[in-house]
Amino acid sequence: MLTKRSTRLLSIILTTGLFLFAGAVHSAEKAAAAPAAKAAAPADPVVDYETVNLVYGYIVMTRTREGMEEGEVEAVVFPHWFHRIRFRCKVCHEDTFVTNKGENIVDMDQISAGEKCGMCHDGSVAWDPLECENCHYYPMEQLDAEAAPPPEETNPANLLFAGRSGKMAGRGDRRKPSGNAFKWGGGWQPRAFSMAGLPKDKYGLVDWIKITKNGMLLPKGSIDPDNPLYESPIHYAFDPDGEEDIEDMVIKVKSKTISEVLFPHTLHTWWLNCKSCHPKRFVRTAGDTPMTMREMSKGKYCGECHGKVAFPLEDCEKCHNREKVAACKASDDCTFDD
Ligand code: HEC
Ligand code: HEC
Ligand code: HEC
Ligand code: HEC
Ligand code: HEC
Ligand code: HEC
Repeated sequence: MLTKRSTRLLSIILTTGLFLFAGAVHSAEKAAAAPAAKAAAPADPVVDYETVNLVYGYIVMTRTREGMEEGEVEAVVFPHWFHRIRFRCKVCHEDTFVTNKGENIVDMDQISAGEKCGMCHDGSVAWDPLECENCHYYPMEQLDAEAAPPPEETNPANLLFAGRSGKMAGRGDRRKPSGNAFKWGGGWQPRAFSMAGLPKDKYGLVDWIKITKNGMLLPKGSIDPDNPLYESPIHYAFDPDGEEDIEDMVIKVKSKTISEVLFPHTLHTWWLNCKSCHPKRFVRTAGDTPMTMREMSKGKYCGECHGKVAFPLEDCEKCHNREKVAACKASDDCTFDD
């Protein structure tokens, strides 16, 4: 069973060719990530550890910090995108991990018993958890430095230059659009992805829609070859066969200056389980979840994934898209209010 599973996985890995680089590149990346990218302000304490630059979709796990310090290991880095080239979100969410940073209770006993990360990192789907630094490499000192207030705000001289928000004003590059998406795109890692020539969006982030529409990569919906979700259909051919008939929907917008929003319900259920959204994020009645962009940019509603794991909120037209809204309204499978 295990061997069957691992040979199947290996064959996928070999056919895409992509993952061969990954291991080798990983350590090179970590080395390349040093030294500190932030230009140290004069007031900064001396940094005597190798700074790790996180890229889009990475999560630092620190819930068990005390235990990790006792065990003399650094904090855990979980790389989302590295996993999602292979698996759809539903493999992990919500049964093994909930989609809420810091809310998952994970320890090494579970992992060694084949639970949580250990459901794959047990030498079958992925390597055994023996090389601690494969996962534990985010310096605790860096966590502390990040938790400390930024030096600009504590230096009274700098207050002269503070903007209305109290943060330093005028530090952006005026030639570039504001927002983080470009920074993420510029910094997003695994070089193995770039080498594989995956299509990118305008920010330089991987365009997951394109990849899954043309079938270039079809991440698995399960790690069990006997589960029907193991084989992934190309997502536009996907027909969610749950008890309920779900349709794409047009979400009305409380503003006349921008298009309504096309919410591709079926596409989301290709990646995700219903539980990732209902009832924890959205009620199951169209139009009944009170959402605003402001809350979304603080990481609520759509912003719980868009801006963290899926394409960022800066990409307005992906959601506010007149053509897609019109196409949905013209189809038989679209929910919308007149
Ligand atoms: C291999 C398992 C795995 C896969 C596949 C996976 N995730 Fe996660 N996800 C995690 C783990 C682990 C965490 C960290 C939870 C924690 O900190 O307790 C997480 C956290 C999250 C969070 C919370 C982020 C935050 O900053 O609050 C979101 C949102 C999320 N995942 C969405 C997704 C989406 C969308 C996909 C598919 C595109 C996906 N995940 C695929 C394991 C996975
Ligand atoms: C659904 C299966 C699955 C789960 C669950 C899973 N992983 Fe992985 N993980 C993989 C696979 C497959 C690889 C690639 C293995 C290889 O390259 O041989 C991988 C690779 C990694 C890598 C290496 C990334 C790189 O750049 O080389 C890290 C780090 C990692 N996992 C951490 C975690 C952590 C931490 C958890 C739990 C919070 C976890 N994984 C849960 C399947 C999984
Ligand atoms: C597949 C990834 C992975 C590998 C490899 C790994 N760990 Fe962990 N470890 C985790 C995760 C995830 C947590 C929980 C992090 C959190 O949520 O705070 C954790 C927590 C811990 C903790 C604190 C909780 C506890 O169980 O006491 C210690 C200590 C620890 N790891 C030691 C180790 C050592 C030693 C090794 C190498 C023999 C190792 N880990 C290898 C993922 C990993
Ligand atoms: C990515 C998040 C997400 C996922 C996954 C998801 N939904 Fe939804 N669902 C929504 C949103 C957003 C709405 C609209 C809520 C609103 O407008 O207040 C919605 C609305 C609904 C509605 C009401 C539709 C109507 O016409 O009134 C039903 C029923 C529903 N979802 C069922 C499901 C089922 C069943 C699944 C799993 C197969 C699922 N959803 C998966 C986000 C999601
Ligand atoms: C992930 C999808 C998504 C992205 C990306 C997105 N929006 Fe929205 N937007 C929504 C949703 C959903 C609503 C809520 C509809 C409602 O209830 O008013 C909304 C509402 C709005 C509103 C109405 C007023 C308000 O604040 O709720 C404005 C204006 C708006 N968006 C502008 C933008 C702009 C500008 C961008 C790009 C910087 C953007 N949106 C990116 C989904 C998105
Ligand atoms: C639980 C995670 C999650 C939530 C919540 C979520 N999305 Fe998504 N969404 C995804 C993932 C994953 C994709 C696949 C593309 C990607 O990862 O960039 C996606 C894709 C999309 C696309 C497809 C874009 C295209 O080019 O076809 C649109 C539009 C979209 N989301 C809008 C929304 C809106 C609007 C909301 C809120 C009502 C929302 N999403 C909430 C995870 C989520």
